[in-house]
Amino acid sequence: MFESLSELPPDAILVLIGEHQNDPRDNKIDLGIGVYRDETGQTPVLNSVKKAERYVVDTQATKTYLGSGGNHDFNDAIQSVIFGDNADGDERITTFQTPGGSGSLRVAADLIVRAKPGVTMWASDPTWANHVPLLGSAGLQIEAYPYYDPEHKNIRFDRMLEALNRLPGGDLVLLHGCCHNPTGMDLSRDQWQAVADLIAERDLVPYIDIAYQGFAHGLNEDAYPVRLLFDKVPEMIVSSSCSKNFALYRDRVGALSIVAKDGKTSAALRSQAMQIVRTMYSMPPDHGAAVVSHILNTADLRDEWMTELTGMRQRLKDMRALLGTALRDAAPDHDFSHIERAYGMFSYVGLTPDQVEILKKDAGIYMVNSSRINIAGITKENVEHLAGSIAAVL
Ligand code: LMR
Repeated sequence: MFESLSELPPDAILVLIGEHQNDPRDNKIDLGIGVYRDETGQTPVLNSVKKAERYVVDTQATKTYLGSGGNHDFNDAIQSVIFGDNADGDERITTFQTPGGSGSLRVAADLIVRAKPGVTMWASDPTWANHVPLLGSAGLQIEAYPYYDPEHKNIRFDRMLEALNRLPGGDLVLLHGCCHNPTGMDLSRDQWQAVADLIAERDLVPYIDIAYQGFAHGLNEDAYPVRLLFDKVPEMIVSSSCSKNFALYRDRVGALSIVAKDGKTSAALRSQAMQIVRTMYSMPPDHGAAVVSHILNTADLRDEWMTELTGMRQRLKDMRALLGTALRDAAPDHDFSHIERAYGMFSYVGLTPDQVEILKKDAGIYMVNSSRINIAGITKENVEHLAGSIAAVL
């Protein structure tokens, strides 16, 4: 039966993990998948997470099932992290645990297709490489709105607004809450205001994917678009992830929050979502969510985690500045200032796929072929090699 299946090319981001691992060169640099690395190139388990894990192991009395919505304490705590305290007890909103941000996106896509078959979702051009395959695999129709201008290395904000202004009411608009993946270019607060007004006026449904909360300006600051839209629109969807801000990548901790017009609609959509979960993966894994819940509900652990999060955010800013300086020295005729104007883990360098390939072959530098780099892969030790090699392929 399986002879009918042809072999597919590997995922463009995931393939880089193996390619980098198998490269014997000492000076190789991994700027591929979006995983935080410290100044030694490691992705450590956070201290707050280690402590919470010990607590969970020592106190957990049972591993019996929790149900399709996952861990209730986690759901309440993560909802407050995203929406602030304003949403506490609001019956229009429902939040439930999912296997990572990707699981959240997939459940939401199924629910959208169920609620409104044939509806179109509009995603930024470009967007995370897995958005269209992941959401599309549920049968969702996806189109693009203008976002990044590769020539001027900025957001095409006027064109973005023009495009959104032409959409039929009821269509969904996928927005990156912060740390736009892959460009790192985020809307300013004024721009978010304009987008939120337009979405409300045109009766569009915002879908915010927030996978890097805390990596741009701060935990609360980065939730600004979610809270702004929550106050303005009757319906919205938020997919969130604890992969990056809690560094829980492989433990798969995420959430789906949906705001409905009223409590009755919210209860109905939750029951539909629970059925989708039950028939897809039955229920999410608990360990990571129990850890996050314990951290968020324990004052000193929460403080420790916030300090660790601040450290990760600061390192990303420092590495952007370091690369900016190194590129100014290595390639003075080229403008890379956009890298320092961006936030979070990613930026486009602005290279062709051929140049990206040469960097891999000649210099052992691994990045996605769009020339997206993971800023966390930069260290004081490798920045010269990186900037010099980029200058050499220009
Ligand atoms: C990325 O964009 O590299 C991350 O979101 C990880 C992934 O799964 O692609």
